Amino acid sequence: MVAARITVNGKAEPISPAAPHTTVLDFLRDRGFTGSKEGCAEGECGACSIMVARPGVEQPTDWVAVNACLVPVAALDGQEIVTAEGLGTMDANGTPTELHPVQQEMAVRGGSQCGYCTPGFVCSMASEYYRPGRCPSKQVAEPEAEAHDHEHGPNGFDLHSLSGNLCRCTGYRPIRDAAYALGQPDAEDPLAQRREQPAPAPVATEYTQDDRTFRRPETLAEAVRLLRERPDAVLVAGSTDWGVEVNIRARRADYVIGIDRLPELRELIVAPDHLEIGAAVPLTEIERRLDGSVPLLAQLFPQFASRLIRNNATFGGNLGTGSPIGDSPPALLALGASLVLASADGEREIDLADYFTGYRQSVRRPDELIRSVRIPLPLAPVTAFHKIAKRRFDDISSVAVAFALDIEDGIVRSARIGLGGVAATPIRARDTEAALVGQPWSAEVVAAAARVLESEGTPMSDHRASSAYRSAMLGRSLEKLFAETTEAVLS
Ligand code: FES
Ligand code: FES
Repeated sequence: MVAARITVNGKAEPISPAAPHTTVLDFLRDRGFTGSKEGCAEGECGACSIMVARPGVEQPTDWVAVNACLVPVAALDGQEIVTAEGLGTMDANGTPTELHPVQQEMAVRGGSQCGYCTPGFVCSMASEYYRPGRCPSKQVAEPEAEAHDHEHGPNGFDLHSLSGNLCRCTGYRPIRDAAYALGQPDAEDPLAQRREQPAPAPVATEYTQDDRTFRRPETLAEAVRLLRERPDAVLVAGSTDWGVEVNIRARRADYVIGIDRLPELRELIVAPDHLEIGAAVPLTEIERRLDGSVPLLAQLFPQFASRLIRNNATFGGNLGTGSPIGDSPPALLALGASLVLASADGEREIDLADYFTGYRQSVRRPDELIRSVRIPLPLAPVTAFHKIAKRRFDDISSVAVAFALDIEDGIVRSARIGLGGVAATPIRARDTEAALVGQPWSAEVVAAAARVLESEGTPMSDHRASSAYRSAMLGRSLEKLFAETTEAVLS
């Protein structure tokens, strides 16, 4: 096996002697790439943002921005990254000679003061700069419409690409000005040209230091065999939870298995009667590949953490950690999803509503992993995802409610409602569903059902919200859905 190495700004760097739990951020800073900063070490500030070359959705390679503080460097064995130092141009001695367009715009528009957040902003901005779907023609055709879209620039720049980057001293307007001033990459731009070549393939990795190991198997069969041998192993895909455990809680697992590049976990299949989404497909990729065809998920994605997190986070991870306030479980419960669990014995499918058994507990055995999420088709026509949190983006929900209703001739034919933040696990609002099905979709029925919904679960009081507030939000959520949909459904 070739010694683990990572290509940083075009130059191969051996990973050894970094410990297997070393994050990409710590690795980079140890090697002198101090542009990447540590602000929070838990994926909330983006000061550590870097770009990774990944297989693209619409072209051979995408430059994807990720939080370096959350990813084990061993997971990038054989991969290629660019840091803020690798943007712009340098002479043969490595002396910077010219700023990259995003650096130039940030500089001339006053997008940087103390500069602590700037390298992270620059990497997130560069990732969006190189995104293939960024659409300058749209702004030419509809300049007025674009000017009034607060989340997209006239150059097609999606401000959500910066939703995981915080700046405490410049203020965001100059940063937005810089983003909206960007043109298209030149034909000679080396990072633009790099997109036309395939991204590095995953590398089978067995990296051990001081009796701790990071292992990347090549196939699902090998992964479940390892898991049977090492049921104590920690599985990582997007690592968005792993990084927090390592940085904040000082967790040091003896054996970590990377499953994010397993081909069996990376499929997205549309079958006649269901949609199957691999457990390790990053949420951004799902979002782009579904392209709004599952409206409930299209509502969920912008509210799920930040673009930086969604570039790595997966359904498998969000369900595997079993958090009662994960964003995806309510939506997947409303969609009637099931999970395919794989082990050395084979596979089994389990309804997501039967999956959670207690606080961060599930029916998944230690020797099993989540292979995929299945969503039955056709989809219910009336769907909504309401996340109540203190911030609009990049926040943890106090309460989350997802609805999937079939309303025909003014009568509720079927109803599935998923709730998060009101019990030790994500739950279905079964009593409310029963109160709606077979009833007219009317103000009276909805008012009565809203009172039922307020009594679902066992919400608790904590620093995010009181139990009374959480209950009240459930009822308001159904009333909001009624107000938003009545005209469309009954007309
Ligand atoms: Fe804050 Fe990584 S250091 S997101
Ligand atoms: Fe100081 Fe952003 S420029 S934190």
